Amino acid sequence: MKRYKIAVIRGDGIGPEIVDEAVKVLDAVSAKEDFELNYEEYLMGGIAYDVKGTPLPDETIEGCLNSDAVLFGSIGGEKWDKLPRDMRPESGLLRLRKALGAFANLRPTKVFDELVNASTLKPEVLQGVDLFVVRELTGGIYFGEPRAKEADVAYNTMIYTREEIRRIAVVGFDSAMKRRKKLCSVDKANVLEVSQLWREVVEEVAQDYPEVSLSHMYVDNAAMQLIRNPKQFDVILTGNIFGDILSDASSMISGSIGLLASASMGGKVGIYEPIHGSAPDIAGQGISNPIATILSAAMMLRFALGEINAADRIELAVKNVLKDGYRTRDLSAMGASEVCSTSEIGSIIANYVAKLS
Ligand code: IPM
Ligand code: MG
Repeated sequence: MKRYKIAVIRGDGIGPEIVDEAVKVLDAVSAKEDFELNYEEYLMGGIAYDVKGTPLPDETIEGCLNSDAVLFGSIGGEKWDKLPRDMRPESGLLRLRKALGAFANLRPTKVFDELVNASTLKPEVLQGVDLFVVRELTGGIYFGEPRAKEADVAYNTMIYTREEIRRIAVVGFDSAMKRRKKLCSVDKANVLEVSQLWREVVEEVAQDYPEVSLSHMYVDNAAMQLIRNPKQFDVILTGNIFGDILSDASSMISGSIGLLASASMGGKVGIYEPIHGSAPDIAGQGISNPIATILSAAMMLRFALGEINAADRIELAVKNVLKDGYRTRDLSAMGASEVCSTSEIGSIIANYVAKLS
């Protein structure tokens, strides 16, 4: 029997409750398949600051590096907002991504037919949307130096090297080759030098992928096009901050930010994390949607462990659960036959996983 080591980071806010549901579903799927998952829990984020005095303790980095994959919930909250930047939960997450070399963040948005009415956008705009954001994750303005906040002036630096652009472009083109072979690279090359280099390097990498049709779009236009006609996109390739913003926007195409999963990969060990934050306002009430984390766990099975059947099983179970009308509160206005709590929907998905032949 195959055994995998999973580092589990539950984090802050709704993190613990959504991760618990993902583990429930993972246990249901591993019971059906020929592998075993061994979980090791690590502290990160605000909780790690409270307990250990740092948002990213060394043993967390080490534990993650010694695992087959990291399953991550969410971090952050008002309680830690006033801390110096280095001590903030977010900075722990950024450092973990960097420490694991997770430079490629893959964020799929697929509209479930059952939820076309869940979005604030018109169903005919959404039906059939299937797009894939490839976001650069360990560079750009998030990490660029110099950076500072002084009394009357503050600044950050958006910086990319040729090599950083090349390696994320390769991920973008490889992803496009596995999909509909369309890649839209998003930048702000009409204003920023860093985007001009981005565009140049993407064009160079494109030479190796003659089958992929490449287009370029300015980020402001891309934001508008995503809402106007999301079906035009297959793979969107973009930098760190533009990808952060565009992936939140694309989540509303699916109906709720509580649905979007992601994989942060590139190094030896990947992080599988929902795209949403820690939602402290609803934490502990049992109303959060664990599906983004459950689908992130499916991405973990697929990409990190190569357990494709298990990943398919989870994705199908989620689809069927939605089809049968089960909804968490974020989706409940849209014709739900039943509004479920966080742990109820987790258990229902686990049961569906168990029942699938
Ligand atoms: C995300 C989040 C993070 C980011 C925050 C929590 C640091 O918004 O994963 O999209 O900006 O990358
Ligand atoms: Mg974000």
